[in-house]
Amino acid sequence: MSAIKNGLFLSLEGVDGAGKSTHIPFIETHLQRLGIEVVVTREPGGTVLGETLRELLLHKDMDIRTETLLMFAARNEHIKQVIEPALVQGKWILCDRFSDASFAYQGGGRELGATAIETLEQWVHPDLQPDQTWLFDLPLEIATQRLQNSRVLDRFEQEQAAFFVRTQQFYHQRAQQDPHRFSLVDSSQPIHTIQQQLQQQLHHLVELWQSR
Ligand SMILES: Nc1ncnc2c1ncn2[C@@H]1O[C@H](COP(=O)(O)OP(=O)(O)O)[C@@H](O)[C@H]1O
Ligand SMILES: [Mg+2]
Repeated sequence: MSAIKNGLFLSLEGVDGAGKSTHIPFIETHLQRLGIEVVVTREPGGTVLGETLRELLLHKDMDIRTETLLMFAARNEHIKQVIEPALVQGKWILCDRFSDASFAYQGGGRELGATAIETLEQWVHPDLQPDQTWLFDLPLEIATQRLQNSRVLDRFEQEQAAFFVRTQQFYHQRAQQDPHRFSLVDSSQPIHTIQQQLQQQLHHLVELWQSR
């Protein structure tokens, strides 16, 4: 399964309402201006089958193990059909959530624990991780307020405060385990300030990538 990676794999993580989707078009446009071919995608989803699974995952009640397995089923399809082929072709992947979200939401939020997720991660993508992951981090009250002002809430977004406390704790734990890959974004700041941080990091990534 190990691919010869030529492109870079970038992911965005954080609780619902943290601002991931808000910043994706900015990152995409900025990378394109710097001459990078970028594929924007999301999890769960990113393929025809994956988007069908997303609908089930966001709207149907199910056992936590079923939920976790469907997340990884969608992810496996996504890796095989979209992520690995693009990386091999030298394109960059910009992905709204990846396995860190399974750690945070199923492992933490739903209290399945880290071990089951680690096992699935090892099985589905032992050799693949994002090169850079932005963790959009903010006080949960702000995230909740933003969400409530913005859209009809799905099965995850409707969860209680304690669920998001656990989810965010698992995100922090995961970031501490892999500080080189994770970059924290204080997403309580104004959008423009966040864009400035992202822009600087993108320039740095492109320079590093071009000088490989
Ligand atoms: N830095 C910010 N300041 C103020 N509002 C924001 C900021 N980032 C995002 N928002 C708003 O918060 C809401 C949720 O953002 P969104 O990007 O959908 O979050 P996510 O994709 O992480 O769930 C949207 O209405 C968005 O416009
Ligand atoms: Mg979003």
